[in-house]
Amino acid sequence: MTLVLGIETSCDETAAAVVEDGRLIRSNVVASQVDLHRRYGGVFPEVAARQHILSIVPIVQDALEGAKCSWTDLDAVAVTYGPGLVGSLLVGVNLGKAVAWAHRLPLIGINHLEAHVYANWLAPLPEDASESTSLPPEPRFPFLCLIVSGGHSDLVLVSGHGDYRLLGRTLDDAAGEAFDKVARLLGLGYPGGPAIQEAARSGNPRMFDLPRAWLKGSYDFSFSGLKTAVLLIIQGYEGLGQKPLKQRSRQTGSSAGPQESSLPVADLAASFQAAVVEVLVTKVVQAAQEFRVRHVLLAGGVASNEHLRREMSAQLKIPVSFPPPSLCVDNAAMVASAGYFRFMAGERAGWDLDVAPNLRLAY
Ligand code: KG4
Ligand code: ZN
Repeated sequence: MTLVLGIETSCDETAAAVVEDGRLIRSNVVASQVDLHRRYGGVFPEVAARQHILSIVPIVQDALEGAKCSWTDLDAVAVTYGPGLVGSLLVGVNLGKAVAWAHRLPLIGINHLEAHVYANWLAPLPEDASESTSLPPEPRFPFLCLIVSGGHSDLVLVSGHGDYRLLGRTLDDAAGEAFDKVARLLGLGYPGGPAIQEAARSGNPRMFDLPRAWLKGSYDFSFSGLKTAVLLIIQGYEGLGQKPLKQRSRQTGSSAGPQESSLPVADLAASFQAAVVEVLVTKVVQAAQEFRVRHVLLAGGVASNEHLRREMSAQLKIPVSFPPPSLCVDNAAMVASAGYFRFMAGERAGWDLDVAPNLRLAY
């Protein structure tokens, strides 16, 4: 049995986890800073880094306790070294180096985007030790992975462990970033993805004919025009006597005050979500046909979007997998899983491992 400790601090989640053989989650501890950043409507980098410093040691201790293991039971330490916020990454990388050095464990540096892909390998350890674990089938190479998070929208062809080819990426806003910005415009609060999904439940996705940036002949994405289209619609309503945006409450259309009831928040949220999902799904379907893959994986925070999951599964004739929502967002179990496969391949980081805020998964 191989146990890897994963450490993740690339953005605003301080996380540590212990994973067995790259797949079984022995513990997975995440301290979210979302309440701390809500007032800024996004992640405030210096605040995030300071909070990581306060949280990281107890979080790692909790992960070891939760896994009922000691330092001597571990085989390796895997830590995210990029991409992400420089101050945040520094906390995890330095902690990872310190504990690996102190406990004479090998250190593995992990690309955060690769870690999101490996969330698809994970399964929880059964609560009752006598129960056998039914692991989900392992993803079959070659597969396509759509990594959609707050910072990235990458469509990647994965031909083997560590073998990535970038087919397309966003030219401007990431999918999650677009969700967050549009939620802010609609007064739905932060983080925007879950808020838009919730508001969209009661909305009509065909109410607004929002633009789709098809960027024909490429697998790249662009979401900034869509965001601007939503802004222009909102401004149109403001011209009709709406309150200025910054005064708008966080309520959705159904419960908004009389002055706000004319802005159909739920319909706008549903139309926006449908536009993002249609572009993502159409491009993945095309790429799956062109590259004849046998499997499609979704990864990253936006992969927990229910409409995206449903549409992707409905439109593709090959299996589609996605992690449970708790493993789509940032966590350290996915870092430990990616670390296991690199560890088994003989990879080791040097003590000079540095942060790489602009690291890419593939070119
Ligand atoms: O992967 P993640 O936790 O952090 C990054 O590495 O960026 O992704 C966070 C992003 C946020 O933009 C958030 O709004 C989005 O994922 N998100 C969603 C949903 N849940 C989280 N977007 C759409 N629908 C959701 N249900
Ligand atoms: Zn992430």
